[in-house]
Amino acid sequence: MQAERDQWGSKIGFILAAAGSAIGLGNIWKFPYLVGENGGAAFIIIYLISILIVGLPTVIAEVLIGRTAQSNPVGSFKKLSNNSIFWTAIGGMGVFAGFVILSYYNVIAGWCAGYVVESLKGTFSTINNPAMAGELFAGLSSNPAWTLGFHALFMIMTVGIIYFGVSGGIEKAAKTLMPLLLLFMLALVVRGITLEGAKEGIIYLIKPDFSAINERTVLLALGQAFFSLSLGMGALLTYGSYMSKDDNLVNCSLNIVILDTAIALLAGFMFFPALFALGLQPDQGPSLIFNILPAMFNSIPAGGFFRVIFFLLLSMAALTSTISLMEVITAFFTEEFNLSRKKATIILGVFVFLLGVPSALAFGPMQNVHIFGKTFFGVADFFASNILLPLGGIFILIFVGWRWGMKEAIPNLIQGSRKHSAILLNIWKILVKFIAPVLVLIVLLFKILG
Ligand code: PFF
Repeated sequence: MQAERDQWGSKIGFILAAAGSAIGLGNIWKFPYLVGENGGAAFIIIYLISILIVGLPTVIAEVLIGRTAQSNPVGSFKKLSNNSIFWTAIGGMGVFAGFVILSYYNVIAGWCAGYVVESLKGTFSTINNPAMAGELFAGLSSNPAWTLGFHALFMIMTVGIIYFGVSGGIEKAAKTLMPLLLLFMLALVVRGITLEGAKEGIIYLIKPDFSAINERTVLLALGQAFFSLSLGMGALLTYGSYMSKDDNLVNCSLNIVILDTAIALLAGFMFFPALFALGLQPDQGPSLIFNILPAMFNSIPAGGFFRVIFFLLLSMAALTSTISLMEVITAFFTEEFNLSRKKATIILGVFVFLLGVPSALAFGPMQNVHIFGKTFFGVADFFASNILLPLGGIFILIFVGWRWGMKEAIPNLIQGSRKHSAILLNIWKILVKFIAPVLVLIVLLFKILG
């Protein structure tokens, strides 16, 4: 174990870093297409309920484990369970999920950076319909040199930040990138809602049509809430472990959840008014960002400029998420194996890059290599985000609710807060012990059973 652990320089530093982990491709890419495929405003309402009854209580539970134990996921579970092998292995499952998610998430993050470069080069200036944009995307993503090159570049940026530690690397990056991200996003929202015909898109986002809701929608919303808040693998646990015991944990968690949700909603307001204004259907699916959007920008005033801003925004959001994934595995290796941070980050960066190669090639030379009927990328994504994250989440909730127990959890939770409400604490207890784990279990079972 290292003698001294790095800490956040300030409370706002922690909030921005954790919100940076939460805000990512999940908010800007996945959330809007799920809204578009599942009935607009009605899906948003179900999502907000999921955030409130499952997301927020789980964020608090995860940060609490880390802040109390002041260690990585494995060290934290080990410490608070008095060396139980089972619970230590649950921490290990989180670290493993971190490896897997980072390996493929970094590939998509690399595409975002690649699209910034292509936008600057003017590659999209003659692309004026979605079919052409789709063809261009297929060409780029299947080109091994392009996709592996940007996968490598993004990994270098991630490692470059983690190398400088918690306050010197992650916190500084979050404090620079998060305000910029918000600014870029607001610029794009204003651009979208001031286009002629944008009103219909705004109505789509605020007027619910509950006939579009069924049990599948509810499951999707709950799963998305989990992924979007970076829950279930120890990212918030690890960030929480660098938090001071004098800070108000509930208040910080609330801020993180509000920021993550606000950015997801803003992403909706960035896309749908523009989609409607350009006469496109809202249900464009996952291909929206790379296949359709690059062409859309050519139909709006100053589109070339906004295209660069958009892909920069996406890259920054992805970067604050990849660094949190990298920090989970780095904290584990430095603390459990006594490696220096600098050595660990470089070795891990190379390792995760290599692990991501088959995912990167799954869109080109390896597209016909299938495991369980999916490409390597598809398997990694399904296994990590549909199985490992919900499973990790259930165990985190059971651990706090039952194994470590509320008797220990509550005093640690209120440490650092000047006043607290007994009613809210009781609600949190019931959500953590009963409601949230059962709901996540249902999601998990549905995902496994297809
Ligand atoms: N929350 C991130 C997103 O919405 O894109 C993804 C993510 C990051 C998941 C970090 C898990 C994690 F530990």
